[in-house]
Amino acid sequence: MSRPTKQIHLAAHFPGVNNTTVWSDPAAGSQIDFSSFAHLARVAERAKFDFFFLAEGLRLREQNGRIHDLDVVGRPDTFTVLAAIAAVTERLGLAGTINSTFNEPYEVARQFASLDHLSAGRAAWNVVTSWDAFTGENFRRGGYLAEQDRYERARRFLQTARELFDSWRGDEIVADKASGQFLREPRPGTFAHHDDFFDISGQFNVPRSPQGRPVIFQAGDSEAGREFAASSADAIFSRHSTFEDGQAFYADIKGRLAKFGRRPDELVVLPAATFVLGDTDAEARERAEVIRHQQVSGATAILFAEQLWNRDLSAYDPDGPVPEVDPLPGENTISKGRASVRMFDDRLDTVRRWRELSEAKKLSLREVVIEVTGRQSFIGSAATVAETINRFVQQDASDGFILVPHIVPGGLDEFADQVVPLLQERGVFRSDYTGTTLREHLGLELPG
Ligand SMILES: Cc1cc2nc3c(=O)[nH]c(=O)nc-3n(C[C@H](O)[C@H](O)[C@H](O)COP(=O)(O)O)c2cc1C
Repeated sequence: MSRPTKQIHLAAHFPGVNNTTVWSDPAAGSQIDFSSFAHLARVAERAKFDFFFLAEGLRLREQNGRIHDLDVVGRPDTFTVLAAIAAVTERLGLAGTINSTFNEPYEVARQFASLDHLSAGRAAWNVVTSWDAFTGENFRRGGYLAEQDRYERARRFLQTARELFDSWRGDEIVADKASGQFLREPRPGTFAHHDDFFDISGQFNVPRSPQGRPVIFQAGDSEAGREFAASSADAIFSRHSTFEDGQAFYADIKGRLAKFGRRPDELVVLPAATFVLGDTDAEARERAEVIRHQQVSGATAILFAEQLWNRDLSAYDPDGPVPEVDPLPGENTISKGRASVRMFDDRLDTVRRWRELSEAKKLSLREVVIEVTGRQSFIGSAATVAETINRFVQQDASDGFILVPHIVPGGLDEFADQVVPLLQERGVFRSDYTGTTLREHLGLELPG
């Protein structure tokens, strides 16, 4: 029996702090002006996307003791930006990344419940745990929580926030002008939560919001992160965006749901992906080459290599061979505030593979970096990209994608104009919103 065609979910990621953007391109605008956020959000809404997404970075990254100025420096506060976007859009979901390590549940629950009210049911919270003591120093909490305790705090944090959201049922306010009765009961929003991490009680002061609770996203990838997502999240933001890797991750994560009494469709899997369009596939490939070289300048290649080698490589020529020195073992001390350095758990082995790649394909250090750091990109004509995205989704490599354009603010325009209509023609992407809340866009039920 053939199964029904899946509907694709699409989101727009504002590319804040990362080196996959090309801030030096003449077409690139501000990463901070409200007009940039508003432009991307409006284009996403015009294209009927599910939501707009903001990542979070709480401290400027450093390398070799200096601010990493080849990264994009500066990131305004998530809630402030999303509240402003709520005022210039009507249906687009608004997803904010907020960590559970340095915040407190009462405050975060208030902020998301408020955003859900202001936006009439469009709020989503991407719960991240944040990884480093370097970031914690901003909060006087440098190194205060061991890695194995971070998900325990995240679990308790989310559970506490849920209790706060659920402390209002939704029918407490009567506001009967004739009788003068405002509240149905004397103490709405009563809560009391006591565990090793949080010991709080009182009244939650934001009445039940349109979605009941914001949509919950999760982004961590470890065993603990996947279990957390399977037990508690409505959607997962993943980095497994190639076809085979995506299918393996999808099967793994969906396979974990049953033991928590959940159905596979209760968790939406959305990897990050980039795209480059052209009039033909060949033209798109040429454009993609140019963009990768813009993204990885010689100086950026050296900085990236330093993260792997864990040592100063400033004397090396990026257009020369892969450095012959060995990487330094142990904790990465050269780069601070960047999650990707944690991926190098076996530096010697990775350096060996880089050397082999360089020799086999006659690549310079910069060319090796360009080759190994490319994220999944949909590269081709609009027809090719629409076809490929649809294949990925129908064959369960994902339920859709969180698209990261490489130019702010106009990087999504051509995708909206060229690719979305083709997906709509195929009947795999909505031609208009059918609901008003983000839960409805994502096909998720309202919490009871
Ligand atoms: C695709 C993806 C996106 C992430 N985005 C952010 C982010 O914007 N801000 C943040 O502080 N952490 C972010 N994280 C980090 C995770 O939330 C988590 O703290 C980190 O990956 C460590 O958890 P893990 O060991 O389970 O992967 C992201 C992780 C992934 C996989």
